[in-house]
Amino acid sequence: MADIDYQSRIPNNVNLDSDKKLQRALEKWQPAYLDWWNQMGPDSFQTHDVYLRTAVSTEPGGWAHFGYVKMPEYRWGIFLDDAETDRRIPCGDHAGDPVWQEVPGEYRNVLRRIIVTQADTEPASVEQQRWLGMTAPSTYDMRNLFQVNVEEGRHLWAMVYLLHAHFGKDGRDEADDLLARRSGDADKPRILDAFNQPCPDWLTFFCFTCFTDRDGKYQLGALAESGFDPLSRTCRFMLTEEAHHLFVGEMGVERVLRRGAQLAKLDKNGDARAQGGIPVSMTQKWITYWFSYSIDLFGSEISTNAADFFAAGLKGRWAEAKEFDEHSALNQWHRMTVMEGGKLTEKDVPLRNAMNELLRNAYIKDTERVVRRWNQALEEEGSTERITLPSNRFFRRQGIYANLPFTPEGELVTQAEFDARRNSWLPTDADRAYVASLMHRVNEPGKMAHWIAAPRKGIHGNPVDFEYVRPPQA
Ligand SMILES: [Fe+2]
Ligand SMILES: [Fe+2]
Repeated sequence: MADIDYQSRIPNNVNLDSDKKLQRALEKWQPAYLDWWNQMGPDSFQTHDVYLRTAVSTEPGGWAHFGYVKMPEYRWGIFLDDAETDRRIPCGDHAGDPVWQEVPGEYRNVLRRIIVTQADTEPASVEQQRWLGMTAPSTYDMRNLFQVNVEEGRHLWAMVYLLHAHFGKDGRDEADDLLARRSGDADKPRILDAFNQPCPDWLTFFCFTCFTDRDGKYQLGALAESGFDPLSRTCRFMLTEEAHHLFVGEMGVERVLRRGAQLAKLDKNGDARAQGGIPVSMTQKWITYWFSYSIDLFGSEISTNAADFFAAGLKGRWAEAKEFDEHSALNQWHRMTVMEGGKLTEKDVPLRNAMNELLRNAYIKDTERVVRRWNQALEEEGSTERITLPSNRFFRRQGIYANLPFTPEGELVTQAEFDARRNSWLPTDADRAYVASLMHRVNEPGKMAHWIAAPRKGIHGNPVDFEYVRPPQA
């Protein structure tokens, strides 16, 4: 198969056309990937023409090439951000040494595990979102969904490239397994809990892309500080794409909030629901739920694994190289609120063991900024309602607060009180059924479902009523 033009079939900047071994591995994996995409990717729209951006190079502008594409023909490429000259390991015990271009033997297993865990989230989210096209509130939103989906597919490619190029047979086996697990499957679930939760409605999709994709941003940011340079460069390029996913989530939730506020104003009792919308208080429940699920993804507050990853230089803090002067994190402490003897108390934890918590705190700060913008939108709509984020202790399933009855304000109450108030904090079955009842596809370009405000702008300079998704031409 020497005459295949790899640059056009698999756009890349990793010299694929001259790397026979890698070619063979990817050639074998590609048909399996396409099978997976056709089976588990967006349902019902695989033959539509979708106005998508494709990364074709890392040159300025090259990562955002726009045009109509049928999704199974999307060119999933492999890109590493440009190499930094003389890059040094940013943190831990090897800080200041030249970065590794090959996997150091002593860290091989743990590095593979880190890559597989990140990789697994990419196809998982595609699987979670596969039914949403059928109920898209507009063709603009449908296009954004598919953009996120194909890019999560590309992120899987990016991770599989690392596994194939640097981990030999083990890496190839892991790459195969990434196509074998299924989100929510009882026997072969995805690795992380949030990626096994169903995504049955668009409010969930917007919250997922706002909160769970944002966890991805912070994990990629920590891995961009890795001493294993190919991983760092891969993650830096993925971060450029991730920004759009976060935009889709943040603006999606904002449009639901705006519309909820507008409809409440129209109703004589101030009830958006009576007007066929989603009340702000209901959107709050979705936000609370997905924020809590997403902060679980950072792992335990006090973690020897996190300390080991940092010490080894495999993962750094957010903006480690840029924003910190001291990179050993030794003989330093991080104060956190822990549970001891059934009570909350302050405790100083060795900084390296608090790396998960540091990353989670950076994430929380970022989400607080998003919430301020949402509240500004509510104010603009003349609403007095406001969104708040729950305490980092509320509704946790991982870490030191797991399964303890904290209120959204972070107060420890009895289990009975928690159970009695739970339905006012988190989506109930009835709430979910109501939101599901609103989900109907709106197909006419520029038209929006009743429960969501129109976006201010279209994509890539096009108007909102641009035909972002076209049915197959007869
Ligand atoms: Fe991703
Ligand atoms: Fe994403």
